[in-house]
Amino acid sequence: MKQERRPLLQAPAVQALFVLCISFMLALVASQIFGRVAGFVLSPLIFSVLHGALAALIARWRRMASWWPVMLFLFPIAVLLVNALHLPPALFLGGFLFLLLLFWSTFRSQVPFYPSGRPVWDAVAGLLPSGRPLRVIDIGSGLGGAVLHLAAQRPDSTFTGIELAPLPWLVSRLRARLLHSRGNFIRGDYTRLAFADYDVIFAYLSPAAMTALWQKAAAEMRPGSLLLSYEFPIRGVPPDFQVRPQERGPILFGWHMGGKR
Ligand SMILES: C[S@@+](CC[C@H](N)C(=O)[O-])C[C@H]1O[C@@H](n2cnc3c(N)ncnc32)[C@H](O)[C@@H]1O
Repeated sequence: MKQERRPLLQAPAVQALFVLCISFMLALVASQIFGRVAGFVLSPLIFSVLHGALAALIARWRRMASWWPVMLFLFPIAVLLVNALHLPPALFLGGFLFLLLLFWSTFRSQVPFYPSGRPVWDAVAGLLPSGRPLRVIDIGSGLGGAVLHLAAQRPDSTFTGIELAPLPWLVSRLRARLLHSRGNFIRGDYTRLAFADYDVIFAYLSPAAMTALWQKAAAEMRPGSLLLSYEFPIRGVPPDFQVRPQERGPILFGWHMGGKR
């Protein structure tokens, strides 16, 4: 089942870019008018504050999430201050390319890279059905820690990670090779996977991804299979069980698939 992708223009980061462009033009017009009426040219700092304030106002009017007005207000001022450092342009290009390879289409998926950790992987290992070989996948496998850890613990089973962003995928491939792990890593989009091929699906994504994940899992996962989500529940679908890998840490939610709901 192929899932609908969020239209590019609806991605909050793309909207923020538009807001910055529009507010820049408004600030430009305002500064021209101000210059004609008061005979006074705005300093770059005042112009940046005006640009940021207009961007923040538009973001609020557009009902963007609460952090966007703050970020959009600060962005033009930060650009001005960083520009004053006269850093080599290659540094910005290098930084951009590094972040692009690390986060790739996060601006669209709203699922950024942040790793879980050993307590979570141990909790997942403890929830895997025993006594039979399993096919397990980490959807959005990041640096591959979960897959590598689980593959070492369950030699009878097959562990795969699928990751969209090139850099984490490459790092996980290299780690698997260096560790002689049986875990394998695919570079791709989990929304295009056949979920029916797996006994256990582990997800550590973001609230924005959970409804579509559930629709796909409910449509494709076989009866008796298991869906696990660390930290993020699914709205309107109570989990069949939950464990807390770390005291006061987030919850690992689980659903036995194929049952009546
Ligand atoms: C929160 S990280 C989790 C990393 C890893 N599972 C862990 O537990 O440490 C989510 C990862 O999902 C990846 N991702 C987001 N959308 C994806 C998609 N549609 N297909 C594959 N990977 C995706 C992101 O690039 C990011 O690396």
